[in-house]
Amino acid sequence: MQYLVNMTTHVPDGTSAEDVRELRSREAARARELAADGYLLRLWRPPLKPGEWRTLGLFEADDDGGLEEVLASMPLRVWRSDDVTPLTPHSNDPGATRKRTEGGAEFLTTFVLAVPRGTPSEEVDEAMAREANRARQLAEEGRLVRLWTLPGPGRALGLYRAHDLAEMEAIIEALPLKSMMTTEITPLTAHPNDPGESAGHWCSRPRTSPLGMLPRAMLLIAAVSIAGTVASAPMAAHKDLAPRFRIELPAGYREWKLISVAHEAGDLNDLRAILGNDVAIKAYRAGKHPFPDGAIIARLAWAYVPSEVNNEVFGREQSFVAGAPTNVQFMIKDSRRFASTGGWGFAQFKNGQVAADEATLETCFPCHEPVKARDFVFTQLAPTP
Ligand code: HEC
Repeated sequence: MQYLVNMTTHVPDGTSAEDVRELRSREAARARELAADGYLLRLWRPPLKPGEWRTLGLFEADDDGGLEEVLASMPLRVWRSDDVTPLTPHSNDPGATRKRTEGGAEFLTTFVLAVPRGTPSEEVDEAMAREANRARQLAEEGRLVRLWTLPGPGRALGLYRAHDLAEMEAIIEALPLKSMMTTEITPLTAHPNDPGESAGHWCSRPRTSPLGMLPRAMLLIAAVSIAGTVASAPMAAHKDLAPRFRIELPAGYREWKLISVAHEAGDLNDLRAILGNDVAIKAYRAGKHPFPDGAIIARLAWAYVPSEVNNEVFGREQSFVAGAPTNVQFMIKDSRRFASTGGWGFAQFKNGQVAADEATLETCFPCHEPVKARDFVFTQLAPTP
């Protein structure tokens, strides 16, 4: 769970400059630890009034109690009052899939949906759909970084990157939903203790990469050519990532080629597509076992739901289609990194976020073990119809 924390610090009268310096340096050290442990994701400075000392922080914790423990562990807390806003994922959140860009400035924007009375619901639905498309575009352009749902009806928070305030305002002005919502832009400046975009699982540049500050795209290419797999880039420590595998969301999996489809009945009651990256597909076609390093198999699942529209046409209940997405699972071949689990690393994501704790990930390999003879992979390549 992520939280936005508005931290206001009041230094008591009569505190010596030396004491302030000392506490600030301990705060910086603690911020580094919290970032390394995946609790502190970002820190920014909002615009300040004279004499004001305020910081905006993006934190990750299991729940409100966990967050309070984190905040209380920070030395400056003695002089600070913290205003906490819980954030939940927004359906238009680009998450880890967005294009990463450097430069420019960051902006937080609050949106409150205020649909004018009497607006036909089709008009709202249509604007919502265009808004989702625009969000995807802005993410591809590297302008929309994150989008969260705020508590309260129709409220959302976006993190954007733009050259300056004028460009940011133009972006907001052009949003399809603009006439149906009120917006407030907060320009952000760098905070000295900001862990940067490398923190946490919402972004994925390795913290201690020897490749330093290369843009994300170049880093991916480098990772592919050096190690043969995108997933081999080490991940910033995060408590949600099983120490066992530490796999980040493989880029572009939605575009991979089809291996087969399946339907699970029973409790799962889902429809699934099994896709492979180029390395996996090549091995499948060649009937080659074991799969070479760099092969990735993705299993995408959706709720198995009847289609009213389709059934209307057939005149009876016979059509079932993909409903809400369930999650995506991956098997990633790296014979050295994942030697103890048949050379496969296992991962599960939902909405671009890690969605399996360590205990769940421990169950993956043992259940795939019965098909050891097929390199632990159940799904066979479906013939071309
Ligand atoms: C209860 C046994 C079981 C567990 C636990 C399990 N799997 Fe599987 N998995 C299967 C079976 C059976 C299939 C093939 C049938 C299907 O697609 O439903 C499969 C298919 C897959 C596939 C597609 C490739 C293949 O082997 O066919 C992936 C990827 C995958 N699982 C990943 C995972 C991950 C990640 C976990 C742990 C979070 C996991 N599985 C846990 C049984 C299991």
